[in-house]
Amino acid sequence: MNKELVRNFCIISHIDHGKSTLADRFLELTETVDPRKMKNQLLDSMDLEREKGITIKLTPATMKYKNYQLNLIDTPGHVDFSYEVSRSLEAVEGAILLVDATQGIQAQTLNNLELARRAGLVIIPVINKIDLSEARVEETALEIAEVATCDLDEVKFISAKTGENVEDLLKTIIEKIPSPQTGGSKTPRALVFDSYYDDFRGVVVFVRVTDGVFRKGEKVSFFRQGTTSAISDLGEISLGLKSTEELTEGSIGFIVTTLKDVSQARVGDTVCPEKPLSDFEPLPGYKEPRPVVFAEFFCADSNQYNDLREALAKLKLSDASLLFEPTSSGAFGFGLKIGFLGLLHLEIIKERLEREFNLELIVTTPRVDVKKTKEGQYLEPWAKVEILLPKEYVGEVLGLLQSRRGVQKNIRHLEEKTILEYDAPLSEIIVDFYDKIKSATSGYGSVNYEVMEDRIGDLVQLDILVAEEKVEAFSQLVYHGFVEKIAKNKVLKLKELIPKQNFEVKIQAVVGGRILASERIAPYRKDVTAKLYGGDVTRKKKLLEKQKKGKRKMARIGKVELPTNVFIEVLKHE
Ligand code: GTP
Repeated sequence: MNKELVRNFCIISHIDHGKSTLADRFLELTETVDPRKMKNQLLDSMDLEREKGITIKLTPATMKYKNYQLNLIDTPGHVDFSYEVSRSLEAVEGAILLVDATQGIQAQTLNNLELARRAGLVIIPVINKIDLSEARVEETALEIAEVATCDLDEVKFISAKTGENVEDLLKTIIEKIPSPQTGGSKTPRALVFDSYYDDFRGVVVFVRVTDGVFRKGEKVSFFRQGTTSAISDLGEISLGLKSTEELTEGSIGFIVTTLKDVSQARVGDTVCPEKPLSDFEPLPGYKEPRPVVFAEFFCADSNQYNDLREALAKLKLSDASLLFEPTSSGAFGFGLKIGFLGLLHLEIIKERLEREFNLELIVTTPRVDVKKTKEGQYLEPWAKVEILLPKEYVGEVLGLLQSRRGVQKNIRHLEEKTILEYDAPLSEIIVDFYDKIKSATSGYGSVNYEVMEDRIGDLVQLDILVAEEKVEAFSQLVYHGFVEKIAKNKVLKLKELIPKQNFEVKIQAVVGGRILASERIAPYRKDVTAKLYGGDVTRKKKLLEKQKKGKRKMARIGKVELPTNVFIEVLKHE
């Protein structure tokens, strides 16, 4: 393929702003797929993605339009996967900045726009959903022109649903986005911007070739990981893998490796010849995925521990960011402590384990990783937080930020919106911060965060005793200034969540042996067979059986039985 006729691009947009729908229209217009066979949102391939309506894994597609080859990379919209977004931006020359005219620009999009700018991409601002009567086309156009620092007449207006103006947009892409440049290295180089594990073929990586040529059968290295592999196949990605003989500079394609685990060929790594010269320069920007949220996973049926371990090992083959280690607890037996990129990542893994591996799980409250210095001080991770919201809600959100130990950095004003830039401890924003912002702004506010360095925190360990027994899973490091309030809220919440037992249950919140709050749950005797008349043994058996089944979903702390969701509920902020 003549490089001059290639265009590599991606779509930057917030969840639900219509990226997958637009990709579908492109695929139709370029006749990459037969419209009769068109399944909506072809690029979102995993079941869970379809169900949740979000893109988790990015899937590229090569399309032909007139004489041009268009390579589209579909990027994930969620904050947990922003490193993948940053890598895919490095693989292209241009980005469509797609904004829903009914929602306006969102904080996450701002962040991705910034990443796109840093990657030197040509930005094409596009307003979507103009077919809707509630579309606020003009206001959104002003906003988008302001943040993208472009003229109003550069903004395109489309409906990805009806297809209105979508072909014009294809023409704009060809006109405005430059053909791929070479990286200037004599040695072949390619950037890995996505990878997955295929049961039959091994690890498949998606690459952007920046220099030179890669050919089938050659041996290559993944520079940062130091792993080597033969190229057992390579080619274009045109909804499915289409083998070719070689991948040349400027192109986007796939390489099938002989590796068995994606952590050996990570996103962001550089593919190069097996033995590069000593002065070889890998492509910049590689980052090891860093889990920021941790939770312990146990099986409701403790005999399933080995199944859980095997299931996770399997998921890890295609998710290099998953880190886990064995743990055990008095209440649940053996389990695994797992690190995640964020809460959505946690939720996805939990659902996949339950669905694909039939496991019934107990998940403890997610936490951040707090370290201790030699002097005994706590170090907690902080994040840079950006909130974009309509001006009238600013007051309320400032209050919320203060209650989360936020430190104001900057306030910027757009046409009708305000951007608040804060620093805040990660622990204060990972669990329910997003929901709180949404409800404080009638759904119009949006949040983006980026994990920064660790800072010294004035934290204390808050323990919870249930029926005189310390429950590790409820223990938490909390900010000194909030400890009294959190202690009170926790025992009250537990009183609500723990069902009555046939004895009195005391719940206490304790810091260093000092009781800060305490509640009691009065006893309740549940005699399910009392109502039965006479001696109908089968009926009685049936009832007991039923009760036993119900119990399987319960966890046990000493003598106390409690539903498994308690462990996730109790950490949520008030
Ligand atoms: P993620 O994959 O989660 O990032 O979402 P997305 O940006 O890919 O959004 P998607 O294409 O799934 O669209 C979200 C919803 O908006 C779907 O219900 C679409 O049918 C709808 N939608 C997308 N474009 C348009 C449009 O131009 N007009 C109207 N009316 N609806 C649209």
